[in-house]
Amino acid sequence: FEVPVPVNEPVKDYAPGSPERAEVSKTYKQMYNSTVEVPLYINGKDVKTKDTATMSCPHDHQHVLGSYHKAEKKHVDEAIETALEARKKWSQMPWEQRAGIFLRAAELIAGPYRAKINAATMLAQSKNIYQAEIDAACELIDFLRFNVQYMTEIYAEQPASTSGAWNRLEYRPLEGFVYAITPFNFTAIAGNLPASAALMGNVVVWKPSDSQVYSAKVILDIFEEAGVPPGVINMVMGDPVMITDTVLASPDFSGIHFTGSTHVFKDIWQKIGTNIHNYKTYPRIVGETGGKDFIVAHKTANPQQVATAIARGAFEFQGQKCSAASRCYISKSIWKDVEKFLLADMNSFKMGSPEQMENFITAVIHEGSFDKLASFIDQAKKDKKASIIAGGGYDKSKGYFIEPTVIVTEDPNYTTMCTELFGPVVTIYVYDDKDWEKTLQLVDETGEYALTGAVFSEDRYELENAVRALENAAGNFYINDKPTGAVVGQQPFGGARASGTNDKAGSKLNLYRWISPRMIKETF
Ligand code: ALA
Repeated sequence: FEVPVPVNEPVKDYAPGSPERAEVSKTYKQMYNSTVEVPLYINGKDVKTKDTATMSCPHDHQHVLGSYHKAEKKHVDEAIETALEARKKWSQMPWEQRAGIFLRAAELIAGPYRAKINAATMLAQSKNIYQAEIDAACELIDFLRFNVQYMTEIYAEQPASTSGAWNRLEYRPLEGFVYAITPFNFTAIAGNLPASAALMGNVVVWKPSDSQVYSAKVILDIFEEAGVPPGVINMVMGDPVMITDTVLASPDFSGIHFTGSTHVFKDIWQKIGTNIHNYKTYPRIVGETGGKDFIVAHKTANPQQVATAIARGAFEFQGQKCSAASRCYISKSIWKDVEKFLLADMNSFKMGSPEQMENFITAVIHEGSFDKLASFIDQAKKDKKASIIAGGGYDKSKGYFIEPTVIVTEDPNYTTMCTELFGPVVTIYVYDDKDWEKTLQLVDETGEYALTGAVFSEDRYELENAVRALENAAGNFYINDKPTGAVVGQQPFGGARASGTNDKAGSKLNLYRWISPRMIKETF
């Protein structure tokens, strides 16, 4: 059969006076003024433990949103066992039933849960409403809708048969269970990593980031209401090393769907290698990790366009996107204009709580991140090679606020040009016009990542030049646009080198990783 043709969920604008703005404000206040307790979720049941941790607002860190329960090893073992038990029925479930569940989840988010999932993302991850809407609402809905379509396209792919032999590919899930580790910075990714594996018939043990448990609970409730059966997606929180080690020690571990930091992913890969003789099947390893994403502007680039791309690409959601622009290479002849437009853009930024919707910048996720960013800013203040032309301030008295900061350096290998900071700090290197080709090489050779990048030019030959020179430097490459904001169904997302396995979230390429096809040849 055919499934409903997926369409991207329209982004609501939350204009002053609009009903959606009133609703999300009301929901935000209600949630702010109450507390929640998030238990583990195993076999469709809430499981409370002896150990809990507090959830609070990054922009108002003394304000407690509630608590979540932390797993002991026995809970993780139980989550694995229950998943394997659930697999017996789930893996046999016709795909139409699985599709129906996740399409229903998409509609629940689009309708009754939209304000709640957005407000949760604003409260505990400090996204402003516009960033919450494109992530927690629209992107998650799009992942769910488009993946159903991609699943059916995959299932329709069949080998040729002859009159004497019927060849058919049976698209089975992996044998075992999938482990999903999800990040704080995108509620959509937190929902998609367990859901996409489950959609393909797999059962899942899901560990959300400690900093995102609050909206993870909303996702879980939606999945449950949409009809995900008990045991298919189990959520455990707590000590990440204990949880991961327990999962990886299981002979039934058959794949990991990961978004997070490069060093954690490499560690996990190494542990999988160590355990390889214990597994029934070679685990699928799918990871999206860090980035040190670039903007490179040729002398023919439009300065206003470049400035807007830096302002939005570097500072939306406080730069806490793996795709955020964080190193820029700008030609000398346009730099003064780019600088003028960039500073003008930044002058209009307001910083504060996401509750006030005019605030474009809110807090970074936690104290660890705040301290790290503050120390890089302090270092830049001291270094002769660097000058701070905007921002540079920080304050954690109420929330973890870092001013959007622009560092200009004469050294293309200056530490903030090479190190992933994951915050609202961008570094700019101004190159001599005659060094364009050398600069492209520099962009390619700087750092270890290859996630996103953007080139700006009005010269088609030079654009082509950059497209070729940077072919391995970014999995998502943008021409005359900021390097963030990939849309499901339009720009499948992921990078290579130290940025991940490039299994393109929001595409068939990703879903292929969650199946283990059997080829059946029947001869007549
Ligand atoms: N998919 C997200 C973006 O493109 C990370 O910004």
